[in-house]
Amino acid sequence: MEVAKVLHMNGGVGETSYANNSLVQRKVIYLTKPLRDEAITSMYNNTLSKSLTIADLGCSSGSNTLLVILDIIKVVEKLCRKLNHKSPEYMIYLNDLPGNDFNTIFTSLDIFKEKLLDEMGTEMGPCFFSGVPGSFHGRIFPLQSLHFVHSSYSLHWLSKVPEGADNNKGNIYISSTSPLNVVKAYYKQFQIDFSLFLKCRAEEIVEGGCMIITFVGRKSDNPTSKECCYIWELLAMALNDMVLEVKYDAYFLLLMGHDPFLLH
Ligand SMILES: C[S@@+](CC[C@H](N)C(=O)[O-])C[C@H]1O[C@@H](n2cnc3c(N)ncnc32)[C@H](O)[C@@H]1O
Repeated sequence: MEVAKVLHMNGGVGETSYANNSLVQRKVIYLTKPLRDEAITSMYNNTLSKSLTIADLGCSSGSNTLLVILDIIKVVEKLCRKLNHKSPEYMIYLNDLPGNDFNTIFTSLDIFKEKLLDEMGTEMGPCFFSGVPGSFHGRIFPLQSLHFVHSSYSLHWLSKVPEGADNNKGNIYISSTSPLNVVKAYYKQFQIDFSLFLKCRAEEIVEGGCMIITFVGRKSDNPTSKECCYIWELLAMALNDMVLEVKYDAYFLLLMGHDPFLLH
C-alpha cells in the first residue's frame, strides 16, 4: 500500500486533532532548537542573501511548524540587526502529503504574521507562505531553490509497507515476534526511502544551503528492543482486539439470523 495516498494526521483543532495532540513532537522541536539556531546563523552569515527560502517537510496541521518558522526568522532578524544588514524576504514552504489539512495552518497565518510583526517590528522583510503537497520521497521543489530545509518527526514514515513482510502476522511494524526477514525488509525499505530523500534534497538545496532533520531512532543495536517497538506492539494489540470484537459481533448477529455485513 502506498502511504502517500492514504496517510494524514487528524485535521482541524478538535479534541482528537493532531494540532491538540502533538506535545511530544513539540518537545522534540524545543530540544533541537540550539542545533537549528547554530545552523541557520552559520548558513545566513555566509550567504547574506536578499531572499531566504525555507522549507518544513512533513509540516502536518498543528502549530509546531509555525513555531519552527518563528524561531528561524527570529535568529535571522537578530543576525541582520547585529550586522546592520537589510532583512531578507522570506519564502516559507510548508510541505506534507496531499491528504494533510493545510487549511488549518493557512487559517492561522494571519495571527502568526501579527505575532511576528509585534515581536520583530516593521524593519522585518516580508514573509510569503505556500503549501506544497507531495511526498518528500520525490522531487517537490525546483533545482537549487532552497536555502534551509527542516524536517522534524516525519522522516521515519516509510513510503510503503515493505515488500516481503507478509509473514509479520498480527504486527504493524518490527516487533519482538517478527521473523528476521521482516526486520530485513523494513531496513531495506528505509535505505531506499532515505537515499531517495537525500538525493532529491541535494538537487533542491542551493550551494551553501543546509538541512536539519530529526527523526525517531534507537540507541540499542537490537531492532526489536522495547525503546523503539513497544508503542507499535501496543497499538497492534489494540487493533487486533478491535478486529476480534467486530468478528464476534458479526458471529453473534449471524446466530441471531441477521446479515452482519448489512449492519456493519
Ligand atoms: C508526526 S507528524 C510531524 C509533524 C510536524 N513536523 C511536527 O513536528 O509536529 C509527521 C508528518 O509527516 C508527514 N509525512 C509522512 N510521510 C511523508 C512524506 N513522504 N512526504 C511528506 N510528508 C510526510 C505526515 O503526513 C505527518 O503530517
